[in-house]
Amino acid sequence: MRYGHFDDQHREYVITRPDTPLPWINYLGCEAYFGIISNTAGGYSFYRDARLRRLTRYRYNNAPFDFGGRYLYLRDNATGTFWSPSWQPTRTPLDQYQCRHGLGYTTIASNCKKVEAETCYFVPLGENLEIWRCRVTNRRQKPAKLSLFSSIEFCLWDAQDDATNFQRNFSTGQVEIEDAVIYHKTEYRERRNHFAYFACSAKPAGFDTQRDTFLGPYRSWDNPAAVERGKSFNSVAHGWAPIGSHHIKLSLKPGETKEVIFLLGYHENPVDQKFDPPGSQTLNKKTVKPVIAKYLDGKNAEAAFQKLREYWDGLLGIYQVNSPDPHANRMVNIWNAYQCMATFNMSRSASFYESGIGRGLGFRDSNQDLLGFVHMVPARARERILDLSATQFKTGGAFHQYQPLTKRGNNDIGSGFNDDPHWLILGVAAYLKETGDWSILDEPVQFENEPGSEQPLYEHLRRSISYTLERLGPHGLPLIGRADWNDCLNLNCFSDTPGQSFQTTTNKEGKVAESVFIAGLFVLAAKELAAIAAMRNPDEAKHYLAEAAKMEKTIYDHGWDGEWFVRAYDDFGRPVGSKVCDEGKIFIESQGMCIMAGIGLNDGKAKQALESVNKHLATRHGIVLQQPAFSKYHLHLGEISSYPPGYKENAGIFCHNNPWIIIAETMVGNGRRAFDYYTRINPSAREKIGDLHRCEPYVFAQMIAGKDAPTHGEAKNSWLTGTAAWTYYTFTQWILGIRTGYEGLIIDPCIPAKWAGFKVSRLYRGERFDIEVRNPNAVMKGVRRVVVDGVEVPDRLLRPTGKQPHHSVVVEMG
Ligand code: GLC
Ligand code: GLC
Repeated sequence: MRYGHFDDQHREYVITRPDTPLPWINYLGCEAYFGIISNTAGGYSFYRDARLRRLTRYRYNNAPFDFGGRYLYLRDNATGTFWSPSWQPTRTPLDQYQCRHGLGYTTIASNCKKVEAETCYFVPLGENLEIWRCRVTNRRQKPAKLSLFSSIEFCLWDAQDDATNFQRNFSTGQVEIEDAVIYHKTEYRERRNHFAYFACSAKPAGFDTQRDTFLGPYRSWDNPAAVERGKSFNSVAHGWAPIGSHHIKLSLKPGETKEVIFLLGYHENPVDQKFDPPGSQTLNKKTVKPVIAKYLDGKNAEAAFQKLREYWDGLLGIYQVNSPDPHANRMVNIWNAYQCMATFNMSRSASFYESGIGRGLGFRDSNQDLLGFVHMVPARARERILDLSATQFKTGGAFHQYQPLTKRGNNDIGSGFNDDPHWLILGVAAYLKETGDWSILDEPVQFENEPGSEQPLYEHLRRSISYTLERLGPHGLPLIGRADWNDCLNLNCFSDTPGQSFQTTTNKEGKVAESVFIAGLFVLAAKELAAIAAMRNPDEAKHYLAEAAKMEKTIYDHGWDGEWFVRAYDDFGRPVGSKVCDEGKIFIESQGMCIMAGIGLNDGKAKQALESVNKHLATRHGIVLQQPAFSKYHLHLGEISSYPPGYKENAGIFCHNNPWIIIAETMVGNGRRAFDYYTRINPSAREKIGDLHRCEPYVFAQMIAGKDAPTHGEAKNSWLTGTAAWTYYTFTQWILGIRTGYEGLIIDPCIPAKWAGFKVSRLYRGERFDIEVRNPNAVMKGVRRVVVDGVEVPDRLLRPTGKQPHHSVVVEMG
């Protein structure tokens, strides 16, 4: 069954029934103020950090209940009946319902009892606030007397503390109400200099700020006492649970529309100007009032909305494709690029699967995310790279995560994930290839955020390499540490105590267990650093190439199992991911990474490994992580065997690494298979199996249940996943093959032979390349000619000239 459809022209996904299998969400905000919004207006908002600066509450363990949000209520004052125009929380049947998730905005429209309501939620660029623009229309023959109630529940800032520390928090809540604006100022009296506000463009008949008064005892958001009786209580929160609610009376003639704007925002005052008058306990509202006044004005709100649309048009216009496949076009041109921006902004912090109170930004995750967004916001990629590298240790190791608000490494998780440092090299390489901005390498960057420890970024990259060289195991392969890319392959953990973290518990010294995956990653990163070094110091480049070659040999000697690459060696020195194992004989990661590093391309091993992947791991819903699945808990393997077979790292389709195999297939020239694998996990192509897939059809999910799971084909953990960047990068740079290089765009498509060609328009270093690829001989790979502005370019590299803003390129495959 379908729950909606794509509207590609407006770049929207249109949901046509509210009861989607799971909340289908969207993100508001793309700079500092963010919100998550579901198709029924559920979700929450925060400033910069979903844990430490949470504005509104959300109830955890909540998919698919989806409870807590930006709820409006409409009440017919003549009959006393009321409903939610976004369906939740009252779930009153609606005569019409439509949710349009667009780029940075969501519009929910409905019709109930001949009253139409359409609310558009968005965050204006450059502001720390969200706008809810609500338009109510009377479709009746006679006048309608209605009440519109707004509601949000404030979070007391630290979302973790807010959800647990009730002995204190039930007594700290404070608000101020002035001119129809509800100010939430809990803890402002002491160490905070920020507050939230909830404003409304109409003059309210009343308000509520105390949750239990608004709802009434033992009631919930689906039947608040204030809405039921049609009148606010004008409650002022002291302690307990501060909320914001306005009551607006609307009298509408037949056919008449009225617009009401609500603003929910975040504001900071200078520490020495917190109060007005000084010495009082009253919020200083001098600088916030003009902001509120500006956006309560419908004209300004509309202008901000148009600007937001232009912003996204600009970002998406950087890379546009027209290929024979509508699903791929839609993902590349709209949704996958958009998802890449979401993963850049959120990392893995806030979604309906990431609570927002857990981890901050991951070191490896954020570096990989760069691959997907660097072309859209290169300046912000630069900043991200510098922030990330500042959490690196002097040893070259790295904090596994850092908090976005403080930009400091997260001590709870610490370091010791031995793949981490190499992703920095790949991230920096992607940035250099996109921008040509070599100055970043000389940028002084701290280690462990320690002032005075600054070294050029380039030195950080060097240490990423030496980190591994100083940590080799018995076979000469890299020691795995706590885990490599696969967080759940914990070979030094040996945890037998419930509740221990598999990621931080270490019961073994870690001197034996090795990772073939890191070995492959090392080869890839060392070759990349050699290419970077070649531009500056050719001798150093040779050194990195020599180290890469040495590791390659080690992989041949100890990492090849006969038909595929071994995955690792455990703490007893026994292979993991080998035909000698009972379970987990073959893993996806080492196949993808070793081949991406170029290993086995010349002697058939790459092709053989890919055949093994096809035979043992590929399913019609994607490629599973390993086989056979672990049927029981293996103490020496860790979390991977803690999942029931078919889920997550235990033989789930972990979409993140499917693109590695796809890239590998393009490297061996199999465009048909590369595209086929891509399509299996493409959410748009899976829209028709929505009942099985269940997650949003417009974004990739982290995981699709594997063939060992009872729910094979069911997706989970949508939105915040490395899958976004990897699929985008893979499709644009390896299948379409318009690939960034240090000196220009490399043209190297690998497509299904039946494609007659495709077109790409690509803005690159300030110049637009309109590229037409023709495939007259129906090949999968191989370029015969590249003609740029009428002139054949023998090395097939598109070089920006610095003079000409626009180029026409014709590529002939064959
Ligand atoms: C999650 C983590 C990522 C890890 C992957 C595999 O996606 O965010 O860091 O590589 O799982 O375990
Ligand atoms: C859990 C998840 C895994 C994630 C890890 C790190 O183990 O299953 O995907 O990478 O947590 O937080």
